[in-house]
Amino acid sequence: MHKTIKDITEMKGKEKITVLTGYDSTMVTLCDQVDVILVGDSAGMVMLGYKDTTSVTMEDMIRFTTAVKNARKDSLIVSDLPINSYQTKEDAVANSLKLIQAGADAVKLEGGKEIAKIITAITEAGIHVMGHLGLLPQTAEKYTVQGKTREDAIELINDSKIITEAGVFSIVLEMVTSQVAKIITEKITVPTIGIGSGKDCDGQVLVVHDMLGLFEKIKPKFAKRYLSLSEEIRNAVKLYVTEVKEESFPAEGNEFQMDESEYNKLRKEIV
Ligand code: KIV
Repeated sequence: MHKTIKDITEMKGKEKITVLTGYDSTMVTLCDQVDVILVGDSAGMVMLGYKDTTSVTMEDMIRFTTAVKNARKDSLIVSDLPINSYQTKEDAVANSLKLIQAGADAVKLEGGKEIAKIITAITEAGIHVMGHLGLLPQTAEKYTVQGKTREDAIELINDSKIITEAGVFSIVLEMVTSQVAKIITEKITVPTIGIGSGKDCDGQVLVVHDMLGLFEKIKPKFAKRYLSLSEEIRNAVKLYVTEVKEESFPAEGNEFQMDESEYNKLRKEIV
């Protein structure tokens, strides 16, 4: 049985929650040891080659969620509602249901007090919701650190309380100053999941392509690279190209052979 919402919320204050993004079955088979797989709309950049998340559609998110569901054994699956999919309560509920039907255990959406009623509508439909505060990639003009001033900090803290009351089971804090992330983590009852928001959050999330050193276009300082996979892939492809060109691949062990007597009969027939 995979992790449940209750498993995740009960980890607050006891054990750090690990989250990685996931978009496809092969990668999720390898990453299923984390507590939560987030089918993030960062798929727009790392899977679809867009410059940001604003071109991602519901169809895209359904397809990625299905792929993740097909491979997941242990983790909880949370899928992003893409931009423009939760502008009204009706759209938000209908689109959340589509992601749940595709295999998500919960949905995530971006924003504070302005979407509190939307969050409540989704939770009242029986669907679990993860919030997302701080840097909001769907609407941000620039990717900048959030919560640097007293006013910003107070707004973030208030938003975190309001969306908790609205019903979220946890909140992603993206690029929030460590001090503000710590205050929010102490003040709210649900787990905070940080990305570039310091060590005091209840859990951490990274984009899997960043963490494996696969995505080279943007290298934010919070995205620690645990591998240089892009380098390994380039070297492997270079070796493959060389071996095919110089005819050392495929070798004997990579081929299938006909029985020799069959082959001899065939040769006689076709010459
Ligand atoms: O889309 C995404 O991957 C996210 C994470 C960065 C939190 O929302």
